[in-house]
Amino acid sequence: MTLTCWEKISLVALAAIGLRILLRVSLLVWKKLIGPSFGFGINLRSQGSWAVITGATSGIGKAYVEQFASKGLDIVLVARSQSKLEEVSAEIKQRYGVDVRTVEADLTEGQAVYSKVAKATEELELAVVVNNAGASYDHPDLFTNISEERLATILQLNVAAVTGISRALLPQMLRRKKGVLINIGSALAVIPAPYLAVYAASKAYIVKLSYDLAAEAEPNGVTVQCVTPGPVATKMSKIKKPTWMAPTAEKFVEASLKTIGLEACTTGYPPHLLMTGFVHGLRCVCEKGALWLISRTMCTIRNRALAKKNREIDSLKKEPSLSAK
Ligand SMILES: NC(=O)c1ccc[n+]([C@@H]2O[C@H](COP(=O)([O-])OP(=O)(O)OC[C@H]3O[C@@H](n4cnc5c(N)ncnc54)[C@H](OP(=O)(O)O)[C@@H]3O)[C@@H](O)[C@H]2O)c1
Repeated sequence: MTLTCWEKISLVALAAIGLRILLRVSLLVWKKLIGPSFGFGINLRSQGSWAVITGATSGIGKAYVEQFASKGLDIVLVARSQSKLEEVSAEIKQRYGVDVRTVEADLTEGQAVYSKVAKATEELELAVVVNNAGASYDHPDLFTNISEERLATILQLNVAAVTGISRALLPQMLRRKKGVLINIGSALAVIPAPYLAVYAASKAYIVKLSYDLAAEAEPNGVTVQCVTPGPVATKMSKIKKPTWMAPTAEKFVEASLKTIGLEACTTGYPPHLLMTGFVHGLRCVCEKGALWLISRTMCTIRNRALAKKNREIDSLKKEPSLSAK
């Protein structure tokens, strides 16, 4: 059987498309399944001996601290409250026997504070730095209902501090041609997020910054990763009961660490990939429908939070009369 010229061209085109799909699927299976499951990510101990974590005293930051300490890395904790820093420091030293240093710093305060963190870590061989501290709204709400102070804090912490700490600590990693910088974004950076607009936009900045820094740093032996979590049960999310979709910070970080060196930008925890995938899929089918669903969910969360606030105010108002009795 002889093929016509057009048939031959069609066959070659089909084979090329098939090969491309196969390559993409294989890469996906490698990055999402084989790599993380069989420990093909970066061994942090090979990068240096110290880990720096901002927002290290609670939630996701503290879970990173515990994971790094359990791998034998010495730790620099950065947060605002000295008493919490001391508490976590004592706990980590006692449980893991590693060296722990603390830097009391409010990262919304700008350049002086980034320099303070750089000075405290300049002689240390940094294996990994996690830009984790972040600020959000109290609950989803209209942009115009959020105070100007809160918006400024979000931008200072999520945008300026992530940039400033990266600028302050990357040079020593680049000099040594070793190290990992992890920036904590949010899944809301890559899906629509009405009623959390400024938080989501600040996290989108982190995703973009990390992508481009990763390309700059990679030829010099430094890995930059952006982690974009979905819901995690912490103080910030106000989720008290962990679920499959909103895991504990410990479970989230354990999964996320397996992706270092395999993925430049990752949700970190596989079910969160399903969540963003579902939203992307819905947007392909019906953009307006996806926006409606997310807006409705945000409004439900806002209404619940406002109702809870009102109940608290009511019970406070009742208290003086109770004590008067
Ligand atoms: N939880 C989630 O569902 C979720 C989802 C997506 C992304 N994220 C991101 O994950 C990161 C961690 O969130 P989380 O839920 O673990 O928060 P969290 O439990 O509230 O912990 C926040 C940590 O940051 C520190 N911190 C807060 N403001 C700071 C400041 N101005 N300067 C220095 N440290 C500061 C806090 O300690 P001090 O108060 O003592 O300073 C604390 O250690 C954030 O970037 C957040 O946007 C969280």
